[in-house]
Amino acid sequence: MDQEGEVTISKLIGNLNGLKSSQTAQLSRLYRRRVTGGQLFSYELAEQLVAAAWAVMRPLAVLLDRAGHVTHVVVGEGSHLPLPPLKKREAAARLSGWRAVIAHPGGGGLSRPDLVALVMNRLDCMVAIATDRPRLSEAEIYVAHMAPEADAEGNLWRVLTPMPLKQAQVFDFATLLQELEQEFAAIASAREVDTQGERAILVGVQTPDWGDSEARESLAELARLAETAGAQVLDASLQKRANPDPATHIGKGKVAELALRSRELNATSVMVDAELSPSQQRKLEEAFGLKVVDRTALILDIFAQRAQTREGKLQVELAQLKYLLPRLRGVGVAMSRLGGGIGTRGPGETKLETDRRRIYTRIAHLENEVALIKKHRGTQRQGRRRSGTPQIALVGYTNAGKSTLLNKLTRSEVLAEDKLFATLDPITRKLHLPGGADVLLTDTVGFIQRLPTHLIAAFRATLEEVNEADLLLHVLDASHPNAMEHLNAVLEVLAELGAGEKPMLTVLNKVDALEDAGQLQAIEAIVHAPVAISALSGDGLPELLTVIENQLARLGQTTSAGREG
Ligand code: GTP
Repeated sequence: MDQEGEVTISKLIGNLNGLKSSQTAQLSRLYRRRVTGGQLFSYELAEQLVAAAWAVMRPLAVLLDRAGHVTHVVVGEGSHLPLPPLKKREAAARLSGWRAVIAHPGGGGLSRPDLVALVMNRLDCMVAIATDRPRLSEAEIYVAHMAPEADAEGNLWRVLTPMPLKQAQVFDFATLLQELEQEFAAIASAREVDTQGERAILVGVQTPDWGDSEARESLAELARLAETAGAQVLDASLQKRANPDPATHIGKGKVAELALRSRELNATSVMVDAELSPSQQRKLEEAFGLKVVDRTALILDIFAQRAQTREGKLQVELAQLKYLLPRLRGVGVAMSRLGGGIGTRGPGETKLETDRRRIYTRIAHLENEVALIKKHRGTQRQGRRRSGTPQIALVGYTNAGKSTLLNKLTRSEVLAEDKLFATLDPITRKLHLPGGADVLLTDTVGFIQRLPTHLIAAFRATLEEVNEADLLLHVLDASHPNAMEHLNAVLEVLAELGAGEKPMLTVLNKVDALEDAGQLQAIEAIVHAPVAISALSGDGLPELLTVIENQLARLGQTTSAGREG
């Protein structure tokens, strides 16, 4: 048994094809070796390992735990040594607790694949016994260990100057280990203090039903979401697959590549452009040894940071709890290793570690509160309705320019930022139409492609403004290369909210930033009577107000001034 409680495996691992029984017996005998004290390896182990490697003419590795037991004997092929997955210790500061001693017949020190395996398995160190004869006397010993931060070439390892056997036998491994652990611990705690400095690598899976540009744009959107949430995006890549992997969403090879990449870049999290199942998320966290954030968690995180009103905060907490409930086991890595940051923030954060029952109780409580607020809002709305003031809801993709338009039209100062989801809570302002009438204009939360189901449910109440409105103003960023996709995403969400049939006026915004006039024509060809504007410069706004007035009149909405006059 090693210190992690993993049972010692006494089976040989790797390429055993064509080995004679005397050879497998020779290899199995390696399990009997024991290394004492703070030694890297014993003479007997090295001798037996080299003899066996030359006997089978394949590279060999033995893994030793910290108690000095051989726990795995691995037989390679060519230059490849298939090290088994090792149970990693939780804290980022820690090494795995295993070291590998390897021998390549025909000599040779540590190859790049060996060093990659060192990092992937967070080994305490890796030792190669290089000898061009099956004898130890002239062996040169190579020792490499992980580095807590990548060097100038991006390598996360350090290779010591090769040493003769005699020197290696008295090498102070215990002190090396102690110093390394201290170095790792110092870096890990520096990172923990710097929770703002979340460093993320992004990945998406492109299935055949997704075009190249769609997949790339979705990944770019994930990057904007990550930045909005306060993360630094270090790397983003797509994997083409027929289907997402049921176990880990991304494929095995990609998982291995990203595990290494995340270490090279010193990432603190991996963000996946999908809604992961709790078990996929857990498996990925285990494979990366890092927090894994999916699209839903990322959006929830932004919502958590941005919710202003009591209702907004309640809705976010509710959505977070519902998201977390099936993931309670999986939160372990995120919570204990990296404590905080994206995916763990917000009104719900103190609740994460409480047990399920308390969470259920909290959910019930929140649902009651939300229902109360909803009732209250209903009363307010009835009041407005009785006042006869027509209501217009601004809807649109996130960052389309809804708040900018509201500000411009009502001369108010609603937060408008070049960030996704700048507006979270509905904001209502009075708007004077040129004919003298008043209408109420409400800004709503921005939509997004594949809006997580949790959020649709959670914000249904907030978006009730949409259902109550007499007219929807759909603001579309006509200058965006994916304007068409945004248009469709908005229509889909509206349909999900049951507002698909509402009277709607489409506003093509940001015409000042339009690079390709063809794009505007393409949109105009499929949208009924759109109005082109620039909310920023104010171009087209007088026309927009006239069209709104006419639309309301056509819908039989008498405006307050109209009724009075
Ligand atoms: P969410 O709150 O995410 O839903 O965004 P929003 O739709 O309310 O967008 P917002 O008004 O915050 O504007 C997003 C960005 O687009 C800001 O940087 C605005 O300055 C910019 N913007 C808005 N209208 C225009 C426009 O007509 N032209 C240009 N060039 N930029 C605009």
